[in-house]
Amino acid sequence: MKTSKLNADPNPNSRRLFVAGNWKMHHNAAETKAVLDELRTQVDEIQHLDLAVCVPYTSLAAAVAVLDGTRIAVGAQNVHWMVSGAFTGEVSTDMLKELGVRYVILGHSERRELFGETDMHINLRLHAALNAGLLPIVCVGETAKQRDTKLTRAVVSSQIGGCLAGLDAEQIERVTLAYEPVWAIGTGVTPSPEDAQGVHADIRQQLHRLFGDVAERVRIQYGGSVNSKTVAAMLEQRDIDGALVGNASLKVPTFRELLDKISP
Ligand code: 13P
Repeated sequence: MKTSKLNADPNPNSRRLFVAGNWKMHHNAAETKAVLDELRTQVDEIQHLDLAVCVPYTSLAAAVAVLDGTRIAVGAQNVHWMVSGAFTGEVSTDMLKELGVRYVILGHSERRELFGETDMHINLRLHAALNAGLLPIVCVGETAKQRDTKLTRAVVSSQIGGCLAGLDAEQIERVTLAYEPVWAIGTGVTPSPEDAQGVHADIRQQLHRLFGDVAERVRIQYGGSVNSKTVAAMLEQRDIDGALVGNASLKVPTFRELLDKISP
């Protein structure tokens, strides 16, 4: 049970369960306002979770306005490493902070696969986000082919090493990692909770080697076809500290149903 894990933790608040919605390229500003107006009224009693929604850039201002004073934080889905300049299509940490954005997803597999982002880009973005005081959610995960050729652990370990290069123990504590097997995203197929736990445990071991005991305080979310049916078993695992949710976070009833399944 999650409770025993938390009780065993030296700092019980350090790995509070954290569920974030990743809306990807869904919901314009008006739709964002409508969805979050409804969601905000439904989460008051969900005290045992940290909550965030990561919305498209054009919806950030609306999301911050609607969620002001609520328990739901707002996140973006990427950020550039330079302060300003000739970087068409990018936004800076200052631009996000000006709006009141708190979290930022980095290294999502869609950024890696469709837009050619590498661990080096993600590492640059990560350092910039941390230096700016944003809270990054860094995604890693293997493709179906890599899984089939038994490369999952090697791939994830190499992504972790590359993405987190140059961080210190104080910084890693402000990072959330998200293990998102690419083959589980948007497919309805997931690893078994035990298999996911195995990868999460490996990630935490690697964090121990890289950063020491602070590894016990770093949250590692699972992502990929998380819904009301899959969430509970995943989050009961020892090293799974929350979820990064795509489709099931887009509408209030499905998101709420999912959140209801997570016991304190
Ligand atoms: P789905 O929950 O739709 O599979 O998406 C997962 C994801 O990519 C979250 O970042």
